[in-house]
Amino acid sequence: MAKDLSIEVNGIKFENPFLLGSGPPGTNAKVIAKSFDLGWGGVVCKTISLDASLVVNVAPRYGKFKSRKTGEVVGFENIELISDRPFETWLDELRQLKKEYPSKVLVASIMEEGKKENWQEIVRRVQETGVDAFEMNLSCPHGMPERRMGLAMGEDPTCVSEVVGWVKEVSTIPVWAKMTPNVTHPKDSALAASEAGADGIAAINTILSVVGIDPKTLKPQPTVAGATVPGGYSGQAVRPIALRHVMEIAKAIPKNVTISGMGGIETGWDAAQFMLLGSHTVQVCTGAMLNGYAMIEGLCEELLKFTVDHTFERLADCVGHSLPHFSTHANLVEAQRKAKLERKSGADNNWKGDIAKETSDLTATE
Ligand SMILES: Cc1cc2nc3c(=O)[nH]c(=O)nc-3n(C[C@H](O)[C@H](O)[C@H](O)COP(=O)(O)O)c2cc1C
Repeated sequence: MAKDLSIEVNGIKFENPFLLGSGPPGTNAKVIAKSFDLGWGGVVCKTISLDASLVVNVAPRYGKFKSRKTGEVVGFENIELISDRPFETWLDELRQLKKEYPSKVLVASIMEEGKKENWQEIVRRVQETGVDAFEMNLSCPHGMPERRMGLAMGEDPTCVSEVVGWVKEVSTIPVWAKMTPNVTHPKDSALAASEAGADGIAAINTILSVVGIDPKTLKPQPTVAGATVPGGYSGQAVRPIALRHVMEIAKAIPKNVTISGMGGIETGWDAAQFMLLGSHTVQVCTGAMLNGYAMIEGLCEELLKFTVDHTFERLADCVGHSLPHFSTHANLVEAQRKAKLERKSGADNNWKGDIAKETSDLTATE
């Protein structure tokens, strides 16, 4: 029976598979340190770039989608860009964090324009800080695509292959490529990344959305000086979509390429489902924003209980466990036809068996 939640991924030891996903929860060294103290296995920092002066955020930049019945926030939209904090500040903070928390996993989320020299410069300078891995943000769906970054790269498998290739040329640590869900066939870009040498795939980033319209002003939200742009949707509501993406990616990529799954994780069981569909680690972003960093305690307890209840010896044993149960519709029809036939012939045999039994009972009493 699993005694703990440790797992080794791309040669990195995680004390548990829970990372804070890139976003507000990992926005500076202070909050990252706090989350390590509380027990998160790792943190993916807010996405950083070489020139933060080009990144200008707006306010308000969040919108909530609430349950009609309970008022609970089930979906969350944001039009937040990547980090607007200076690159040099980030380098100092990443270096300091690795010094203070050598056994915690620190993943640097990075994004650059489509220039080889930029990607290679950011990789060289960030890996000197001692971070454990990179997560390439090829998937931010709003704002950044206007600069041909994020989703603009990730939706094009040729571009994914080229950019991952540049990063792998100079990276000395594992590289994860973070995928966009805003495509019909998630496996195309994931395969391109893995063929270009990515050690892992992270999925999903946010889903393009319009969260709603203000009933008084009739302006779409979040409204900035009277207007908005479609934003990225996350939280509980996206989980079924995220699970579909992770499942399809897991079935398509080679077994040695790992997956970090995310999208609406708020409980240990949510996390377990991502692992059953092929994730080796899981990330939580919106859940931590809504429920607080201390939720890690419940996540670990629930996931450990799941491994015990289902008698998995090690956490790694549940990775991909449910994948063989996906098929094609034609196969479902055929399997259903066979099952019906078997049930019918079982019923026929039972009927014959019953007659035989009755006859022998009669003979015995004669
Ligand atoms: C406010 C906000 C900001 C985000 N910023 C980033 C970012 O800078 N880089 C990135 O790769 N993903 C970013 N994300 C996406 C999350 O990391 C994650 O992929 C997505 O929200 C789905 O997971 P969740 O439902 O747990 O939030 C952001 C999400 C939110 C809600």
